[in-house]
Amino acid sequence: MKKLEKLKKERNAIILAHNYQRPEIQDIADFVGDSLALAMKAKQTDADVIVFCGVDFMAESAKIINPDKIVLFPDEKAKCPMAAMVDAESLIKLKEKYDYDVVSYINTTAAVKAVSDICCTSANAVKVVQSRPDGVIFVPDENLGNYVMRFVKDKDIILWPGFCPTHMGISLKDIMKLKEEHPQAEILAHPECTPDVIDIADKVASTEGMVRYAMESDSREFIVATERELCYRMKKEMPDKEFYPVKNAVCPTMKKITLEKVIKSLEEMKPQIKLSEEIMEKAKKPLEKMLEMGRG
Ligand code: 13P
Ligand code: SF4
Repeated sequence: MKKLEKLKKERNAIILAHNYQRPEIQDIADFVGDSLALAMKAKQTDADVIVFCGVDFMAESAKIINPDKIVLFPDEKAKCPMAAMVDAESLIKLKEKYDYDVVSYINTTAAVKAVSDICCTSANAVKVVQSRPDGVIFVPDENLGNYVMRFVKDKDIILWPGFCPTHMGISLKDIMKLKEEHPQAEILAHPECTPDVIDIADKVASTEGMVRYAMESDSREFIVATERELCYRMKKEMPDKEFYPVKNAVCPTMKKITLEKVIKSLEEMKPQIKLSEEIMEKAKKPLEKMLEMGRG
């Protein structure tokens, strides 16, 4: 990996990677984390170039936070299907109908963030919704919205029918089968999972929250109800514990980024995230508000 190191130095670049990235990407990254940690890291870095290994909305958020930096996104086709489920025009109409604050999950396009009041991630969604004065329009993940509603009882929360295909595919049956095979294992679930999975989880958290929980827990085994690659990071950081992924829990878009594409992007300095000045300026406010709130 001498070539990569040399390129990184020449460009003064940092590589940020999400917890669902391929093992070889996690291994070469300067920082691996959940969407909130990655946005925070993007804000702190003094590198000139950010190579973002994740999906579109994460790379766009890094650019919005750092309009003057170059954000390389090694495969432009790595688009989160959930983020494409809500559009700015429909959201404006809904806002006119309810006159509530729009809380948009970070899994949204920059155009949707630009018409939102505040963003959130799975690590702070409850805290963000609680902070709003009145009712809330929550987009786009219905499962995360339903999870938030378990904690926020005093607000009218309007949900959007969006979902993550990967987490929708994690069935209670698959988890119960793993539990039968590993009865001592604790069940960790992402809030994008369906309510029946949330009901039986020992801990519901963002991907980073799951890592932290497993580190602090006395348990030695965990069933991990989210994208499978999180288990790679967990095993790497906790080699003495066992992590059981759910079969077929793969996010194909997260796998589009490869080592070759990362090197090529640094060589050619493309593809770069490009957004209109107007959208960036408007989308920055809800993202910054979210960052000020920190973790939930
Ligand atoms: P985290 O913010 O928990 O890492 O989740 C991101 C995501 O896309 C989950 O599907
Ligand atoms: Fe989007 Fe789901 Fe993939 Fe996360 S796991 S990036 S929500 S498709």
